[in-house]
Amino acid sequence: MDAIKHGLLSLLVFLLWIKGLVDGSDVIQTSILWKHKGEDATMDCRHTKGASYFQMYWYRQLPGERMRQIVYSQSTKPEYEPGFTMEKFSATKPDADSGTFTVKNLVPEDEGLYFCAVTMCSGSYPPYFGEGTRLTVLEPDHDVTPPTVQVFKPSEKECKVKTLVCVASGFYPDHVSVSWEVDGLTETDSVATDNTALKEGKHYSLSSRLTVQSKTWFKPSKKFTCRVSFFNGTDTIPVEDSIIGETDSGGMPNDTKMKIMQNAKLTYSVLIAKSFIYGVFIMFLVWKLKGLSGKQSSRERSCGLNN
Ligand SMILES: *[C@@H]1O[C@H](CO)[C@@H](O)[C@H](O)[C@H]1NC(C)=O
Repeated sequence: MDAIKHGLLSLLVFLLWIKGLVDGSDVIQTSILWKHKGEDATMDCRHTKGASYFQMYWYRQLPGERMRQIVYSQSTKPEYEPGFTMEKFSATKPDADSGTFTVKNLVPEDEGLYFCAVTMCSGSYPPYFGEGTRLTVLEPDHDVTPPTVQVFKPSEKECKVKTLVCVASGFYPDHVSVSWEVDGLTETDSVATDNTALKEGKHYSLSSRLTVQSKTWFKPSKKFTCRVSFFNGTDTIPVEDSIIGETDSGGMPNDTKMKIMQNAKLTYSVLIAKSFIYGVFIMFLVWKLKGLSGKQSSRERSCGLNN
């Protein structure tokens, strides 16, 4: 009985913890922060969980990496995790409900997501997370540039499913989000977008893939749209590209069809040639037989004459 009670309690704690992780509404942080290289970036965090949640943690997630804790603070001085120092990061905690976190002397590698979490006491109490601060570090000689977007049609070699590829390129800084629409309806299930944008010179590029059933693709009226939302520091600028589904060419790539047709032509020619040769052969046989019987009858005749 106690085991069941304990199990249920653990489940409840777990569910609350998940809720705390997912629903960031109780912990509010600065959502976007754009700063230049060399500057300091200070982000705020507040919560409405009450005075007992006086412990504050700061984490960061760099592109393509997992989340790491940097510092923990309560009213006393902050405590740093190994590898993080007060020369680079600082945290303040003026009261139970709020705190700040600063990344000093910014370098491009500081760009990423920074999370604030609050807990009640130590250990077993679930932390409540904010939705993260997205820090962008601008380099001095780089102009803010929106992306160009292009959707590429699926490979002809794919059979059952078709993969459409969207490429956003030439943008700076790396602050975009990608969504797909099929006939104006947002697709979320079969979408895969790169976690990290690729840096080529001064600009970034990013790709996203949409997978659809081939029967969906082979509908000439269907419209597939890739929408990239680019944030330029003040506004979100939508940039999009679309392609229309194709007519089914028998589910076979065109060059394969061509080959098959050529093969068919060849086979047909061989057949015709064969039957022609066969015909000639038969005619020859007939002629030969006729000749034989002709000779024979003349021999018979001559024999007859001789007799
Ligand atoms: C951002 O976009 C808005 C609207 O298009 C424009 O007015 C503004 O100048 C842009 N800012 C930058 C930094 O390009």
